[in-house]
Amino acid sequence: MLQSLFFNIVPGTLQPICPIESRLPPPEPEQIPLRTLQFKRGLLHELRKGNATKEQIRLHHLVQQLPRAIIIGVRKGGTRALLEMLNLHPAVVKASQEIHFFDNDQNYARGIDWYREKMPFSFPHQITIEKSPAYFITEEVPERIFKMNSSIKLLIIVREPTTRAVSDYTQVLEGKERKNKTYHKFEKLALDSNTCEVNTKYKAVRTSIYTKHLERWLKYFPVEQFHIVDGDRLIMDPLPELQLVERFLNLPSRISQYNLYFNATRGFYCLRFNIVFNKCLAGSKGRTHPEVDPSVVTKLQNFFHPFNQKFYQITGRTFNWP
Ligand code: A3P
Repeated sequence: MLQSLFFNIVPGTLQPICPIESRLPPPEPEQIPLRTLQFKRGLLHELRKGNATKEQIRLHHLVQQLPRAIIIGVRKGGTRALLEMLNLHPAVVKASQEIHFFDNDQNYARGIDWYREKMPFSFPHQITIEKSPAYFITEEVPERIFKMNSSIKLLIIVREPTTRAVSDYTQVLEGKERKNKTYHKFEKLALDSNTCEVNTKYKAVRTSIYTKHLERWLKYFPVEQFHIVDGDRLIMDPLPELQLVERFLNLPSRISQYNLYFNATRGFYCLRFNIVFNKCLAGSKGRTHPEVDPSVVTKLQNFFHPFNQKFYQITGRTFNWP
């Protein structure tokens, strides 16, 4: 059934234009036991702070690698939490910043070596992961990523679409307030004032039409190369979601309940790396949302419903969204 969904793909029109990874030697098989890696991560941490020497890089054969997996979105889906939690895995190294290589024309023009230089140092058999949620909705990105590595693994974390749209609005609202600017209420933006129908021109609404964006990606990548993460469950009960990602990335299961603890003050799960080092996400993650008129919520939920059904069908992952 999945194959039949590729109806708009004309076979043979999308040939890899010399994928960059194919010009590189194949990745080395895993040699260092994971426990050793965990120990050596201390070194990687020092490196990121600029405390490791070139000599250490040479000695430990550390390299800056292009990502083998990318969290492509969705904005406000829980992309930061997912990246930070995956980084608990000893074989994963995260690019801390959003690089915006594929969605920003200026960055893209700087070339793939610029992108690689933005990546953290890692052991050759570790996998580097970056996240830039704008990738999911930006027209040019699927083709550009495909040209870099046609077999890359793509992670998409989604939340119930109306909640995600409100979260998106809340982030923008906070930015406006910080600059002492006024902003419309969510209801005014989400509905077209003339028709009282859902305003599909509003970006926060458009971004939540997941299937529309995914269909563009499917012109380049088969559905098997995507893994959908349930962002609502990542908030409530992260471990099972992380275990599914470990399996998708062909990694041994290493993230455990020990690494995740619920912080009642924060109201979210936080991360425990070891006995001395733990951290919660920044306060900008987990904002209080404004109350939204229930009739507008219902209108949005009804609007998203058919798109959600299509999204379930394509991805094979079903959610209890209204
Ligand atoms: P809210 O601010 O709406 O609650 P992103 O990183 O893609 O911007 O997503 C932000 C969302 O991540 C937050 O949305 C929050 O709900 C969610 N999230 C998931 N797990 C979290 C965690 N452990 N700590 C903080 N926020 C988390």
